[in-house]
Amino acid sequence: MTATVPTRTSTMRAAVQRRYAGPEEIHVETVEAPTPGPGEVLIEVRAAGVDRGVWHLMTGRPLVMRAMGFGLRRPRQPIAGEDVAGVVVGIGAGVTGFSLGDEVLGAAKGSYAQHAVAKEDKLVRKPSSLSFEEAAVLPVSGVTALRAVERAGISTGQRVLVLGASGGVGSYAVQLAVATGARVTGVASAAKAELVRSLGAEDVIDYRTTDVTSLDLEFDAILDIGGLTPLRRLRKVLSPTGTLVIVGGEGGDALTGGVGRQLVAGLVSLFTRQTLASFVALTAAEPLEVLVARIVAGDIRPALTRTYPLAEAGTAIVDLAAGRIAGKAAVVVGG
Ligand SMILES: NC(=O)c1ccc[n+]([C@@H]2O[C@H](COP(=O)([O-])OP(=O)(O)OC[C@H]3O[C@@H](n4cnc5c(N)ncnc54)[C@H](OP(=O)(O)O)[C@@H]3O)[C@@H](O)[C@H]2O)c1
Repeated sequence: MTATVPTRTSTMRAAVQRRYAGPEEIHVETVEAPTPGPGEVLIEVRAAGVDRGVWHLMTGRPLVMRAMGFGLRRPRQPIAGEDVAGVVVGIGAGVTGFSLGDEVLGAAKGSYAQHAVAKEDKLVRKPSSLSFEEAAVLPVSGVTALRAVERAGISTGQRVLVLGASGGVGSYAVQLAVATGARVTGVASAAKAELVRSLGAEDVIDYRTTDVTSLDLEFDAILDIGGLTPLRRLRKVLSPTGTLVIVGGEGGDALTGGVGRQLVAGLVSLFTRQTLASFVALTAAEPLEVLVARIVAGDIRPALTRTYPLAEAGTAIVDLAAGRIAGKAAVVVGG
């Protein structure tokens, strides 16, 4: 869908962060607007998604990520945000898939700003059934959930456990598994249980009062998205030939963030009939097209529950890290 092309300007307002720290270091400033290079488009940002990756980039935690190219002493990308939805207002050399005025969603580093540049192959057209705010919360969490469900090989009639069902990734994972015909049990805090049920989960277990791995239950697939439940406990409630997919979990050590579970899972998987897997999802046009098709078909919908103005981008990230956001939240930039 296309819209009237907004006017480009040489400066813009952006949520800028010049060193790793808390939200007090994120200030909305006037900075130079970016220009699209070859294969890139310039987007007038209408909304940007809030997700755990933004928190990791704000704090520089776990420390290992600083050595992975994100900036040793300060964020290499000083403008926060990655998920984006907006209108194409500039086209770089060689771009063939988009035109001025196209409404798009995808990944653009530095999306907490009035303008952001995105690679053509990380964008898709926004379906008209989604608002910009809803579209902005699809990319990172939606693609991660899609990859998790694919990796678990979930099929009709399977019993699936989703740990972290009320969060960004979990809210899509529950819907995708249910749409495949699976029977989903979600693990989440009691305050967000209703949201998880509304996404299609048959049961919701509160991790604060009940350890799901101590129950007499068995699942064909487990998507481990929240908490850092030890591997051996997860395996107790996984069927003998079931698949565990470790997506992530917060609260690990400062250096690695608890990624050791993924490494151990890969090793243990060699010696058991259970499949224990992990992966790193990359936001790209191909999985985004799949998700958009699922949205158009009515299978899934972004669980957007909260929005913040650009000036409160730091607060949004803090609220996410504190567990105050159910499903997804968006930073509203303009339009
Ligand atoms: N592998 C990848 O490529 C990839 C990509 C994206 C994200 N991730 C990782 O995936 C994880 C989840 O991301 P997200 O954006 O979905 O985060 P989120 O929106 O903050 O959701 C976190 C979820 O975990 C739940 N949770 C917290 N403590 C728990 C516990 N002890 N047991 C069970 N559930 C618990 C939360 O429940 P309540 O809110 O109800 O308390 C919430 O549902 C993060 O660690 C992130 O870094 C990995």
